[in-house]
Amino acid sequence: MKVLVTGGAGFIGSNFILYWLKNHPKDKIINLDKLTYAGNLDNLKSVENNPNYKFIKGDICDPKFVNFLIYNEQIEIIVHFAAESHVDRSILNPAPFIKTNIEGTYILLEAALKNKIKRFHHISTDEVFGALKLGSKTKFNLNTPYNPRSPYSASKAAADHLVHAYYITYNLPITISNCSNNFGPYQFPEKLIPLIITNILEGKKVPVYGDGLYVRDWLYVEDHCRAIDLILQKGKLGETYLVGGLTDDISNLEVVKKIIKIMGRSEKIVEFVKDRPGHDRRYAIDWTKIKAELGWQPEFDFDTYLKYTVDWYTRNLDWWKRVKTGEYQEYYKKQYCK
Ligand code: NAD
Ligand code: DAU
Repeated sequence: MKVLVTGGAGFIGSNFILYWLKNHPKDKIINLDKLTYAGNLDNLKSVENNPNYKFIKGDICDPKFVNFLIYNEQIEIIVHFAAESHVDRSILNPAPFIKTNIEGTYILLEAALKNKIKRFHHISTDEVFGALKLGSKTKFNLNTPYNPRSPYSASKAAADHLVHAYYITYNLPITISNCSNNFGPYQFPEKLIPLIITNILEGKKVPVYGDGLYVRDWLYVEDHCRAIDLILQKGKLGETYLVGGLTDDISNLEVVKKIIKIMGRSEKIVEFVKDRPGHDRRYAIDWTKIKAELGWQPEFDFDTYLKYTVDWYTRNLDWWKRVKTGEYQEYYKKQYCK
């Protein structure tokens, strides 16, 4: 099978490529990535000489290039991760989110249709559903209406609708998955968990937005990769699958305190900072459909794999130190030193 992975140099995309080459050693993977600030080929060093893996630098927003690549490489399956993915950056500047997440997805869909792709799997987010009430037991499910509340989630919602529309209108064989907050190795240290770990390793304070009582549903990245694998093997065309983790409601402050405890520091390093505008209070995913239909459920428990993730960042200082330079410093100043 020839698989095109878009955004394969990012956090989840690179974990997916490593997972796929290990579990499907006969398949060929083409990784198409623009290498924005979030793309990092260091993530894929262990497979760069694998004859079944090829990296191609390019932009999903370039229709001629995308169409030629899919035709020339005789791509059969597309797994579409490429996106601008950070909510805070979408608040500072929505333009690249609209361009890549909406227009880029449209360009890929057109090329997929023209080249008679066997499957287009679109990776999306639970953020398209908006926010749940703190303290409620409600979870996002497939009857939850879309209600995106940030430029990032609005751009992902638009992309989801386009992907679904290509199934209904043109019979393009698509599947969609909407998942919760991933964590694990190779996550860019602008996201909560790696930002907290690397700030602690640098001896800095750790920023918590607002009252810290926001709730996310944490999913270990390898569980996510396994869910995508099952959807590709057994998922029904045109369907959406919700993928979530094993945490019962846990606040950001509790997550931060767990990391501080694992790393043996004092809670005095917590710094409550200005809240994110339009901050979604609570996310929780009902993943019973993917369990019932495809037999998937999360396996990696939060506490064990949070410790593993802390250990990974502690052992891979070079990886994140190279990332936390230049553009990162400018972004950090804009976001945290207002
Ligand atoms: P990331 O920001 O770490 O990586 C995104 C990758 O896409 C980067 O390698 C970047 O270079 C590439 N890219 C960006 N614009 C591109 C373009 N125009 N052309 C080609 N490549 C481009 O993101 P991530 O956290 O790995 O997320 C991957 C996908 O999963 C995204 O679609 C995101 O919306 C979705 N998602 C992420 C999470 C999460 O917790 N990280 C949760 C739910 C859904
Ligand atoms: O829910 C899935 C989404 O999870 C994905 O679609 C996004 O691509 C991904 O970035 C993530 O979005 P969040 O906004 O939930 O993730 P982030 O790590 O930025 O923030 C997690 C929570 O922690 C959120 O409530 C904001 C808070 N936070 C974040 C940062 C960076 C802080 O309190 N302090 C911080 O410094």
